[in-house]
Amino acid sequence: MAKAMKVYNNGDADVMKWEVVDVGSPAANEILIRHSAVGLNFIDVYFRKGVYPPPFFPFTPGLEGAGTVEQVGAEVSEVSVGDRVAYASPPLGAYAEKRIIAADRVIRIPDEIDDTTAAAMMLQGLTVQYLLRQTFRVKAGDTILFHAAAGGVGLIACQWAKHLGATVIGTVGNEQKAEIARRHGCDHPILYNQEDFVERVRDITNGKGVPVVYDSVGATTFDKSLDCLQPKGYMVSFGQSSGGVESFNPVVLSVKGSLYLTRPTLMTYTADPADLVEMADELCSMVVSGAIKIPVKQRYALSDAVQAHKDLESRKTHGSTVFEV
Ligand SMILES: NC(=O)c1ccc[n+]([C@@H]2O[C@H](COP(=O)([O-])OP(=O)(O)OC[C@H]3O[C@@H](n4cnc5c(N)ncnc54)[C@H](OP(=O)(O)O)[C@@H]3O)[C@@H](O)[C@H]2O)c1
Repeated sequence: MAKAMKVYNNGDADVMKWEVVDVGSPAANEILIRHSAVGLNFIDVYFRKGVYPPPFFPFTPGLEGAGTVEQVGAEVSEVSVGDRVAYASPPLGAYAEKRIIAADRVIRIPDEIDDTTAAAMMLQGLTVQYLLRQTFRVKAGDTILFHAAAGGVGLIACQWAKHLGATVIGTVGNEQKAEIARRHGCDHPILYNQEDFVERVRDITNGKGVPVVYDSVGATTFDKSLDCLQPKGYMVSFGQSSGGVESFNPVVLSVKGSLYLTRPTLMTYTADPADLVEMADELCSMVVSGAIKIPVKQRYALSDAVQAHKDLESRKTHGSTVFEV
């Protein structure tokens, strides 16, 4: 037996209930993990609210965690009992003291990285890996625009882009977040609630625009993000924290300069376990070398997930948030 958050119907944060659950035993290719830390991500809000439909009810939210392997199935060769492991992967179920997951969805945590850091970095850090290193490969000399630059994904992206030699323009919700983003490598924080970010990007780039916009804010930024791009630039729409983008006519891409549009997800990029391992190796080496410091800025007990969701949704958080289990 263990405790876990359960959601019986979509709704606001209060629909999450902390309950005793039966964890069961791992099947042949599965492992049972005792969590020591669980990551909070904006996608948890989408599933709780029903923006992304959960596969079944009741469900336990969460896609990211770290802990120790307590049991392994008969055919598991990847990890052993006692190993410290971390993951960022479906199925839902991370908001739990213990969970079962397929063995090929986890990585072994390097000795230099503690469990809290691992739980904070897997989903957001792997996302930054594919965004900056695969979807559009950022190189030295590029100037990029990254929205919500002081968020969990944002602060990791600022550091990684800076490490690659890019100039980072980042949008943020207030002055305090601007200062935090600056400290993590954002050269030009823009207060997008107060300033016209298209004008600012044009000023900063001498009218040229940027080769890539990473936009996870969605409804309130999507159209204007396209106006920040150079001809043949990349619009990477990877989230919708302000709401979904309504219907979109692809002709706009031609009118605004033969632009590219993609709507990527981490799940596609890590679907092949070999890719997952390669991406995680690069992320871990960035963290172990000190090039990226994982910004764990909020910690909650897992039983306080309701409050954590309220804080994330009301834009009170910055950097990464971890549940201590
Ligand atoms: N596609 C993928 O593979 C993938 C993977 C990971 C994350 N994501 C997406 O990346 C985004 C960031 O994720 P995260 O977990 O790191 O969250 P986060 O950035 O820490 O939090 C979301 C931030 O979005 C900004 N925001 C703007 N308008 C908002 C609104 N109306 N309501 C709430 N927030 C608003 C806020 O920053 P300001 O106050 O500074 O505006 C807020 O702090 C999310 O959209 C998430 O879905 C996508």
